[in-house]
Amino acid sequence: MKIACIGTGFVGVVTSTVFASHGHEVVGLDIEKNKVESLSKGEVPFFEPGLSELLKKTLADGHLTFTTSYENAIADAEIIFIMVGTPSAADGQADLKYVFASAESMAPYLKEDAIVVVKSTVPPGTSKKVEEIIKQKTEIPFTTASVPEFLREGTAVEDTLHPSRVVIGATDKKAIEKLTQLHRPLSDKIIIMKPESAQMSKYAANTYLATRITFINQIADLCEKNGADVQEVIAGIGEDSRIGDHYWYPGFGYGGSCFPKDVSELAAYSRAVGESNNLMNKVHELNSARTPYLMKKLEEKVGGWKDKQVAVLGLAFKPNTDDTRQAPSIAIIEYLQQSGANIFGFDPKAKWTGKKDNFSQKESLEETLIDADVVIAVIEWPEIISFDFSKTKLNKKQFFIDGRNQFDPAIVKNWNYTYLGIGRK
Ligand code: UGA
Repeated sequence: MKIACIGTGFVGVVTSTVFASHGHEVVGLDIEKNKVESLSKGEVPFFEPGLSELLKKTLADGHLTFTTSYENAIADAEIIFIMVGTPSAADGQADLKYVFASAESMAPYLKEDAIVVVKSTVPPGTSKKVEEIIKQKTEIPFTTASVPEFLREGTAVEDTLHPSRVVIGATDKKAIEKLTQLHRPLSDKIIIMKPESAQMSKYAANTYLATRITFINQIADLCEKNGADVQEVIAGIGEDSRIGDHYWYPGFGYGGSCFPKDVSELAAYSRAVGESNNLMNKVHELNSARTPYLMKKLEEKVGGWKDKQVAVLGLAFKPNTDDTRQAPSIAIIEYLQQSGANIFGFDPKAKWTGKKDNFSQKESLEETLIDADVVIAVIEWPEIISFDFSKTKLNKKQFFIDGRNQFDPAIVKNWNYTYLGIGRK
């Protein structure tokens, strides 16, 4: 099939590359010339396992090209995916200006019976607005649909090649058939629904997962009050198939470009539609307060942050990405800076771009741990959780904060550190 992918951000590059790898003729479009030039050379502007190799392969096979021209991308396309950014607006809801601008720009070049698919995360009702915008500029018959994205950073290629399900929000029979045909080789779980339901499914999935993390973080806080170990509690509840034992890592709170944004957007949307007394508002509030709350509690345990040498391990918002958007490390480092600590940071891929006051990023774990009074293992990068910290133990009292409960407290104590986990002694 001939496919156009508008927007070469994270979702755009992964989606266009995966469809091209299945032999479709894909054109990726972006208004930023630099991005188009580097992608055309096979350069991915961020780290995502497996993506660079697949991009190079699909470019070489001739299945994928990039352009800045709407005419080039749209004129032949049977399916057009809108995958542009939807930053949060001042009122907290999704700002749809880029979605609407792309709809307006593509309209004059649309081919008859083209299917315009919104993949960006947008509130219910957006496909109808996109349709109205396009209709103002063309008489050509076309349809719209909504196919939300459920990929995770760090496993994005795998998630797109083998999605757990594909949700198609559409009402037009021909569009449903064609989108099913496109996605069938990727998954046999194709769920057809109204566009509004598809858009709500995306918000509901992310908000549920964010709520689950917030819930286990709160259970961890209660465990600390009574001597229970949250990891044992997770084992105790996880065997119940209604609950499950996955996606239960307590820590400094969720981050990334999706959960914080999607939860606060759904909260803002709920307020806008007169449903303000709900969970979404509270989850966002609790997660935003999570890191300062923990840092304050830990401050007492380590005897104050002032003048302490602190090693912050893991600057990305999670392993296998160089993305630091809304990463817990940002709030941790800012808290430490304000508290007068000296900070060394380490991450295998991500670079710290915040204020450098009392902070320097090191190239190796060994350098980061030089002279540390407190080690904070924030993110469960394999390099960090498999490191032998006995090698770097100094001849002084050192605290080891296991921000993800990835270490065995007995081993850390054996290394001679004072162990501080989340929701466990
Ligand atoms: C998330 C969703 O998992 C994807 O399904 C969705 O498509 C994506 O958002 C999106 O909307 O584009 P992602 O942000 O890449 O994907 O990362 P996750 O692996 O879900 O982690 C999100 C945050 O939650 C991270 O900060 C992670 O460390 C944290 N987390 C995750 C926990 O604190 N505890 C856990 O048990 C799991």
